[in-house]
Amino acid sequence: MKVGVVGLGHMGAGMAANLLRAGHEVTAYNRTPDKTRALVEKGAHVAAQVADACRGEAVVTMLADDGAVEEVAFGEKGLIGSLGNGAIHVSMSTISVALAERLTTAHANAGQRFVAAPVFGRPEMAAAGKLFIVPAGAPDAVDACRPLFAAMGQKTIPIGDQPKAANLVKLSGNFLIASVIEALGEAMALVGKAGVDRRRYLDLLTSTLFTGPVYETYGGLIAEEKFEPPGFAAPLGHKDIRLTLAAAETLRVPMPFAAVLHDRFLTLLAHGGEALDWSAIGGLAAKDAGQEER
Ligand SMILES: NC(=O)c1ccc[n+]([C@@H]2O[C@H](COP(=O)([O-])OP(=O)(O)OC[C@H]3O[C@@H](n4cnc5c(N)ncnc54)[C@H](OP(=O)(O)O)[C@@H]3O)[C@@H](O)[C@H]2O)c1
Repeated sequence: MKVGVVGLGHMGAGMAANLLRAGHEVTAYNRTPDKTRALVEKGAHVAAQVADACRGEAVVTMLADDGAVEEVAFGEKGLIGSLGNGAIHVSMSTISVALAERLTTAHANAGQRFVAAPVFGRPEMAAAGKLFIVPAGAPDAVDACRPLFAAMGQKTIPIGDQPKAANLVKLSGNFLIASVIEALGEAMALVGKAGVDRRRYLDLLTSTLFTGPVYETYGGLIAEEKFEPPGFAAPLGHKDIRLTLAAAETLRVPMPFAAVLHDRFLTLLAHGGEALDWSAIGGLAAKDAGQEER
């Protein structure tokens, strides 16, 4: 397919490279132009502005947050003003349910199609084409994107015909992951302070009742306190819990754990955690337990 990619950060760079590898014709835009260089060497065209990435059948956005997606979609010479009739905006960032609703309406009014397709998996998985992709939107539009999803992910699990459902599901998933990170951090602080080897403790967990990539990946990062460099930066994790709470507020769903996690992220950010991985909230419990010097 002829496809634009807007956003070549930790995730977008690997995703765009896999689109190229699968034989798609990719035109890439990034706010900081330097980041397009590696992709050009792999055969991509560069877009000097967002509009130049909108000349194909679809454009993928993989941007930081609502503000970035709003700017790129609704700004001057943005997606809404530039995509052709019937072209598809495939929004793969983790954004709010409210913005997904706005985009659905705005693209429909402009004669374009909108698919929300957020992803599970960290940058290593994006680079390896192993993401889990959760699309939602009109079935014809989701089907048209399948060759793109096949290039970027190991599994595509459509979740319905309303794009916003995919964004809600993604936020709920990150709420669950953050809950596991916090719980692992507390459990490791407990046994660690008593002198139990944290790595051996984690091996015990992940070889018995707590199998699965979330426990393995985040348990390892917490046990080794490997919070740098960030694969998924703490401010983005904070954003996801904020958006989860906003969706919960709209739906009148109390989520007391989410409120605790929101505070944990605030604590982390208040103590200089901006440049750390979001899993660094899993290191707070050890600090609270007086284990600063481990
Ligand atoms: N990292 C993960 O493990 C992971 C996993 C699943 C989902 N996600 C989600 O995927 C999205 C991207 O994550 P990431 O880790 O790739 O983030 P990232 O490395 O921080 O990249 C963010 C991208 O957004 C661009 N951007 C930010 N503000 C912008 C603006 N106002 N206008 C135009 N472009 C702007 C950045 O451009 P510059 O290069 O110019 O800064 C960059 O291309 C986020 O929604 C995140 O929640 C991340």
